[in-house]
Amino acid sequence: MKLAVINFSGNVGKTTVARHLLAPRIPGCQVVAVESINADDGQPVTIRGRQFAQLQEFLQSVDDVVVDVGASNVEELLRLMRRYQDSQEDFDGFVVPTVPARKQQQDTAATLAELSRIGVPPERLRVVFNQVDDDSPIERTFETLLAYCASTGVAQTCAAACISFNEVYALVRGSGQSLAELAADGTDYKAAIANAAAQPDKLALAQRLATRRLARGVIPELDACFAALELHRLPSCQQATPTA
Ligand SMILES: Nc1ncnc2c1ncn2[C@@H]1O[C@H](COP(=O)(O)OP(=O)(O)O)[C@@H](O)[C@H]1O
Ligand SMILES: [Mg+2]
Repeated sequence: MKLAVINFSGNVGKTTVARHLLAPRIPGCQVVAVESINADDGQPVTIRGRQFAQLQEFLQSVDDVVVDVGASNVEELLRLMRRYQDSQEDFDGFVVPTVPARKQQQDTAATLAELSRIGVPPERLRVVFNQVDDDSPIERTFETLLAYCASTGVAQTCAAACISFNEVYALVRGSGQSLAELAADGTDYKAAIANAAAQPDKLALAQRLATRRLARGVIPELDACFAALELHRLPSCQQATPTA
C-alpha cells in the first residue's frame, strides 16, 4: 500500500500520523519524508521536493510506503503531479490530517480541493481528525471542514478516524524512540525507582514510567482510528478482479 500524508498546513500531525498511526500498522511499511529543509530527526529516507522524478522512481520500487510530505513541499508536489499526468495514481490513497484551528481547517479544505482538482476521487481520500478534545464532538469542532466536504463532495469523512490530543506525541518526539518502542519497554520502573539512590534519577525514571503509560494508553485509540480509515477499501487495494 502506498500512501501520501499531505496538507498545505504545517503542524496538523502529518509526521505523527505517518510514523505512529499508519506505518506501524502496514506490514513492511517504511516512512519517506519529502522535505526541502530540516529533515526530521531519524528519518531514514529524505527526498527533496524538487526531485519529483526520483520520488516517482522510488514509488515504483517499493510495495508499502507512507510518504510524509512536508508542508513546504505540498504545492510544488501537487504542481508536479499535474505536470506528470496520472502520477497521483502512484499513490493508493491520500491521508489528510487536520486539527481544530480554523486556519488549519481552511487549509485542509484547500488541500482536499486541490487533490480533487488533480484527479483524486473521494474514495481515495481519508481525513484524520487530529488533536481532538474528547469533550467536544467532531461534528461541532470540525463544522467548517465538514460543511465544506458535504457541500462539495470532495471527500467523505468518518468521525471515528480521530486522534485525541495527548502529550505523548511531543514526548515521543523528544525521546527519539517510536511510540511502539516506548509502549513495549519492559523496564521494571517501580524496582528501578526504589533502587535509585539520587532524587533526580528517581524523577527521571518516574517520567519514563509516565511516558510508557501514556504510550500504552494511546495504542488502542490509534488502532481504532486506523480501522476507521478502512484503507483496505481504497479502490486499488481491493481484491483485483481479473480482466479479459
Ligand atoms: N494528537 C496529538 N496530540 C498532541 N500533540 C500532537 C498530536 N499530534 C501531533 N502533535 C504534536 O503537534 C506538533 C506537530 O505535529 P507534526 O506531526 O510534526 O505535524 P506536521 O508534520 O503536520 O507539521 C508536534 O509537536 C507533535 O508532537
Ligand atoms: Mg512534519
